[in-house]
Amino acid sequence: MRSGQPMKIGTLSLKNKMILAPLAGITNLPFRLINRTFGVGLTFTEMISANGLIRGMKKTMHYLEFHSDDRPLGVQIFGSDPAVLAEAAKIMTDLGADLVDINMGCPVKKVVKTGAGAALMKDPQRIAAILKAVRKGTCLPLTVKMRAGWKPQSINMLEVAKIAEDAGVDAVIVHPRTADQGFGGTADWSLIEQVKGQVSIPVIGNGDIKKGEDAARMMRMTGCDAVMVGRGCLGNPWIFHQIDACLQGRIDPPPPSLAQRERMIRRHLTLELAAAGDRLGLKAFRKHLLWYTKGLKGGSSFRQMIGTVEDKTLLLDKLHAFFASLSLDPEGGGDVDHESDK
Ligand SMILES: Cc1cc2nc3c(=O)[nH]c(=O)nc-3n(C[C@H](O)[C@H](O)[C@H](O)COP(=O)(O)O)c2cc1C
Repeated sequence: MRSGQPMKIGTLSLKNKMILAPLAGITNLPFRLINRTFGVGLTFTEMISANGLIRGMKKTMHYLEFHSDDRPLGVQIFGSDPAVLAEAAKIMTDLGADLVDINMGCPVKKVVKTGAGAALMKDPQRIAAILKAVRKGTCLPLTVKMRAGWKPQSINMLEVAKIAEDAGVDAVIVHPRTADQGFGGTADWSLIEQVKGQVSIPVIGNGDIKKGEDAARMMRMTGCDAVMVGRGCLGNPWIFHQIDACLQGRIDPPPPSLAQRERMIRRHLTLELAAAGDRLGLKAFRKHLLWYTKGLKGGSSFRQMIGTVEDKTLLLDKLHAFFASLSLDPEGGGDVDHESDK
């Protein structure tokens, strides 16, 4: 159960068992590069419309940013038409993706009303048709990221996992919440264990890993082959060092110091501005600033203060002043304390 041990998804070798989840609006190249610094073995783009891809839509293509430091990279596509998804997978193969994933978990209305995302969980026959078509369309490693089912009364991830295996899918990613749960409640890890007992392809466990020990517990409890982390790394790429330590039975590394935190924010901001330009980059970065400063003393007033700042230099000055004030404060500390964020 060592994160440092390599694992394989089809023909793809991963250096460890730590995977960054696809997160719409978040897992762009800068975010992926930041998390790579902490050792992530595989990253994913956010979900990309298969329809948009085959039409070569500019906005869709924008999600496809490749970088040699961000390999291997999985591209996640969503759609409901087998032929369209197969064509999109072909395009991904030609463009140089390392892996293709099919989204069967997105519960957002705009997506499910087209029969895509988590709505597919209601239609195992369509799933089989999609996976057969996509399998024919690409020789790349192929994964499926699924929910437990559509509703608690119709949990069918075991059936879907088996369909995926039979169609030649190389691994299944299991987020054991039903679609109607959204992101609330808790992920039922016992379902990951059940899927693991059902198929012989690798099973990647996902849901509610918030600290290193959670990942170790998930692997112990479910026997999953790798862990995927989403919300746990928002403003907290250090979680991957913690997971690595926990999986290898080492002591948790100490939380980042204030100086390390500030440096990381600057680095992430620089990458974001380089990718999106100053105006859009600053706007897009606000959510990350919120996550990076959550729990720090005075964090909420700092966030209010910088809410309207549109100048990079001014933002960096204010950021530095905020961290300087924290380091002068005997209670400022480096530990993130959610209680003090008032
Ligand atoms: C803001 C946000 C965006 C997400 N976008 C995607 C997506 O594009 N594709 C996908 O398969 N899952 C998406 N998810 C689900 C996550 O990948 C993950 O399955 C879920 O958050 C549970 O894992 P976690 O508890 O580690 O966050 C998203 C979740 C959130 C919170």
